[in-house]
This record gives sequence, structure tokens and C-alpha cells, in this order.
Amino acid sequence: MNEAYLNKIINEDALKSLSMLDENSIDLILTDPPYFLDKMDDRWDEKKVASTKYHHVVKSLPAGMKFDKEQGKNFYKWYFKISKQILRVLKPGGFFFSFSSPRLYHRMVSAIDDAGFLIRDCFIWLYTQNQPKAMSLNHFIEKLNEDKEIKNALKNQLNGWKTPQIKSCYEPIVMAQKETEGTFLNNFRKYNVGLLNTNVKIGQDMFPSNVVSTDKINEVIDKCFLISKPDKKEKGDFNLHRTVKPLSLCEYIINLTTYSNEAVVLDPFAGSGTTLVAAKKLGRKFIGIDANKEYIETAKRRIKSFEVDSSIYNAVSEERQLRILEKKASYKRLNKDKIKVA
Ligand SMILES: C[S@@+](CC[C@H](N)C(=O)[O-])C[C@H]1O[C@@H](n2cnc3c(N)ncnc32)[C@H](O)[C@@H]1O
Repeated sequence: MNEAYLNKIINEDALKSLSMLDENSIDLILTDPPYFLDKMDDRWDEKKVASTKYHHVVKSLPAGMKFDKEQGKNFYKWYFKISKQILRVLKPGGFFFSFSSPRLYHRMVSAIDDAGFLIRDCFIWLYTQNQPKAMSLNHFIEKLNEDKEIKNALKNQLNGWKTPQIKSCYEPIVMAQKETEGTFLNNFRKYNVGLLNTNVKIGQDMFPSNVVSTDKINEVIDKCFLISKPDKKEKGDFNLHRTVKPLSLCEYIINLTTYSNEAVVLDPFAGSGTTLVAAKKLGRKFIGIDANKEYIETAKRRIKSFEVDSSIYNAVSEERQLRILEKKASYKRLNKDKIKVA
């Protein structure tokens, strides 16, 4: 049944689309769900976001950035249902990688854990550049019913003290796994999933790790964790999506977890299609889902531009001194079911 969706993007709600896919059919799910950060639910409509009742506190602040206990709980309930479906469609031993935010990670992972996954690890995407969200209190001090002298004294006293939002410089990514059927070896021989390809290297030919950086930081960090920096060319100058992930990061995870070109990579919140472009680039099959038609058009355009001229993406990689290296696999496939360790 999946045949109809292979190398396509479904324009539909994720929960609905996931229920249409075959069970035990997907090798890897790599996704970046809506974090409920700029709204309070899974309906991704920016016009509605602007009119939520949470929006009144500070007009310029997205609704989800105002601390509300319900946000995490709603996210948990929704992601639990999504994770149940993801568990169903993944092959035994298949991996589920899901991006999150430091603030909602615990809710996301609990939902995935409670849905039946084994939580294997937490990856960290480390970066140095981000807009600090903390606010000065001067605006609120100005509104106090106090005389100017007191207001000025308060401003001086709280100089540099801001609301509790530190500059965020990492994104956690959970690595969850569907339970294997029997041993890792037997499961791999049957389904071609469940192990990690440590021939994939990051930094300067280093063993793959759960910390990855897309910024050059310093010699030691670059040596161990650097993967290539996202480039405007890989994003596409037509791409207006606000949360485009680095292609190299998706490539890293796909290389690490999928064995052959028969592997199917699914992204149920595909956005502008970074996971799909990475899968395409690595010769894997893909299925994308997104509720937003415009983003799907962008994703299709990116995939198309890769088909027309893959050098756009490869040229970007070649410019980079440090990048993901995939050494020649040390095992060879003998036939469909038997794998010989060379
Ligand atoms: C954080 S973005 C993904 C960005 C993507 N990783 C990229 O690099 O472009 C999340 C996506 O989920 C989609 N989305 C939100 N709610 C959805 C739902 N219920 N079903 C399917 N897609 C949804 C949004 O349209 C958005 O493009």
C-alpha cells in the first residue's frame, strides 16, 4: 500500500496520513514536529495564532512563548497519539528521531516513551548563533504608578536583569527505537534496521557522536562534532519556511541508521522538505507529510532542484573542509537475507 506514497509528499494531517501507511514498513522516521511554541495546539494556522486568547499579554510575543502549563500537556497528548502511529509503521528495530526544544523535550520524550518506544539517546545540535528572547523590564517599570525617581532607581537596580529566557544554543533530538524482534543481529538480518553505521564519521574522521555542531566553534569542538554548516543554496532562496533544518544534520542521521537504498525514510512534518532532500541525496526512498500546501510546494521545488542540478548541494559540501565522511562499508550484502561481516 505504501507504494502509492513513495517519493511523494502527502498534503494532510499527520495523524490521518500515518494511519494510511502499512505497519512495519518504514526504516527511519526523522522529523521536526511543531513544538506548540507559537501556538497552543497542533493546528498550524498563523492567522489563528495571532488571535489566540494567550496573545494579549505582550503583543509581540508568540502565544506559546508565554509560559503556560497546558502547552506541554497538550503537546504530550497529541504527540502520544502520533508516536503510537509511528510505532506501528516503523519496522521492528527502526529508529525514530524527533527534534524538540529544551523546554518541551521532557513532554515529547515521555509521550514517545509511553507510546512504547525504547529511548536510546538524546542528540544535541549545538550552535552559537541565536536571538536571545529575554526581555528587559524597563517597559513595565515605566508603567508603574511611581514617580520618576523611583522608576529610574529601579531601572538602575535591574540593569542587565531580564526575564528568564537564556540564549538557547542547542536543540535536543531524541533517538528512540522500536523494540527489535529477537537479537539485534537477527532483527538486522530480517529488516535491515536496528544498528548504527559507525563507518559514518563526523568532525575530522571521528566516531559518530550524539553532539553535532553546524558552527565552527574551536579546534577541539570542530574536530569532534562539526558537520557542514547550512548554506542558503541548500535551503533555496524561494524557501520561506521559518525552521529549516540543516541538510547535513539530516544526512548524518540517515547515514547512521539506514542500510540500503531500499530504505524508506518518513517525515510526517516535512515542512520545506529537508529530510526528504537528504534522503533523495543519499539515494533512499522517502515519504513526506505536511498539513501546509505552501510548504509542500517549497519541498517539491527543493527536491526538483536537486534532481535538475545536484551539484548545488554537492558543491556546497565540497567547499567544506570538515564534513560527514562515510567510509566504504566494511560489510557486503550477499543476498537479501544474509549479511557477511568482511
Ligand atoms: C517545524 S516545521 C518542519 C520544518 C522542516 N524540518 C524543514 O526543515 O523545513 C513543522 C511542520 O509541521 C507541519 N504541521 C503542523 N501541524 C501538522 C499536522 N497536524 N499534520 C501535518 N503537518 C503539520 C507544519 O506545516 C510545518 O511545516
